[in-house]
Amino acid sequence: MKVLVVGSGGREHALCWAIAKSPKCKTLLAAPGNAGIAEIAQCVNIAAEDVNGLVQFATKEKVDFVVVGPEAPLVDGLVDKLEAVGIKAFGPSAKAAQLEGSKVFMKDILAKYDIPTADYETFDEPDAAKEYIIKQNGPVVVKASGLAAGKGVVICHNRNEAFAAIDQMMIERSFGAAGDEVIVEEFMVGEEVSFFALVDGKTAVPLASAQDHKAAHDGDLGPNTGGMGAYSPAPVITPKLHDQIMADIIEPTIKAMAAEGAPYKGVLFCGLMITKQGPRVLEYNVRFGDPECQVLMARFDSDVLTALLACAEGRLNKIKIKWKDETALVVVMAAEGYPGNYAKGTVVNGFAKAGAIEGVTIFHAGTQAKGGKIIATGGRVLGVTATGKTVKAAQTLAYKGVDAIDWPQGFCRRDIGWRALKR
Ligand code: AMP
Ligand code: GLY
Repeated sequence: MKVLVVGSGGREHALCWAIAKSPKCKTLLAAPGNAGIAEIAQCVNIAAEDVNGLVQFATKEKVDFVVVGPEAPLVDGLVDKLEAVGIKAFGPSAKAAQLEGSKVFMKDILAKYDIPTADYETFDEPDAAKEYIIKQNGPVVVKASGLAAGKGVVICHNRNEAFAAIDQMMIERSFGAAGDEVIVEEFMVGEEVSFFALVDGKTAVPLASAQDHKAAHDGDLGPNTGGMGAYSPAPVITPKLHDQIMADIIEPTIKAMAAEGAPYKGVLFCGLMITKQGPRVLEYNVRFGDPECQVLMARFDSDVLTALLACAEGRLNKIKIKWKDETALVVVMAAEGYPGNYAKGTVVNGFAKAGAIEGVTIFHAGTQAKGGKIIATGGRVLGVTATGKTVKAAQTLAYKGVDAIDWPQGFCRRDIGWRALKR
């Protein structure tokens, strides 16, 4: 079949890498892709956000199946539009994508169906938000409701910080319309973990757990990023906790979405806080995590394309997914300065040497091929991924891969996996 993957990050390279291994995949296309994706797929220069352009292209090329990587086109209705012209797609409808597109929508669903999450109130007016903040004891978290590229969440240690966050979102409108509604919620204490499941509207098949490293620098210091590294599985998720997450959180969410007339289809990425009272939802995302997808794909021991198709076609009750009994760990290499200002156009070398290490796979993110060279064009540039029998083994191997990459203008964290190793 002819498959189109939408997106250009490390997540999409990992998806392409896994899909390309399927005997079902005869032609693999990517829009817009990157230099790593271009080695295994035909890249077309259509932006992931160009919903109409993608639908036109998929129609013209008679694409059989579209796999959507990032959230923006999902929220904008790419899957609805593809299905309307008879093209199968992996990902939720625009309505179901509101689980990520609107934090107010998400929190209200959780509250209505009694799914554990932080206590909260919603505001569309700054003074009311401030009055509520005054009444809280302890830290609060202020969140812009709409998509804010991961920046719309502020953890506020005191009243002044919370007031400043409200002003920034609702008066200065730093995130535009995304901040017209805000949530003020209780600060939860615990260990954070990501949990992924494939969902076809009715059936949920758990994938695996993973832990991300959001801060830019070692020791979880520095500004928040899209994610500087991850590993899977996350040892904090015991078999008992896994069952509890499925029974108390994932299954009720699937039922809730169906009951609300927005059956959920695609991958459900649940950000959880494991608190003393048990797992509670931090957020839902309607797509794979980046870089969590890289480690999930590295551990997947079944045909990924078959699983994604079963998900899109409502046949998840018929499939079983096998996982490698190994840990996968990814170290993100980013341009010096990321997530702030960074240089573009620097040359990255060492791919042959790093790629030759057994057990190491290099996923590209912000790269382009130019005149026979690989150029860094984004903040996050590579995801050096390794598998091993233990977290330590996977970590050692991944850093061996990192050290084989020759990119003086890049940096990475040196402590990816620390939480799992501390256990
Ligand atoms: P979100 O995009 O909602 O996941 O928020 C981004 C990050 O902020 C999360 O990954 C958490 O580290 C943190 N965070 C969000 N909400 C809370 C909360 N209620 N309590 C503690 N930390 C939070
Ligand atoms: N790595 C976190 C995310 O993709 O949202």
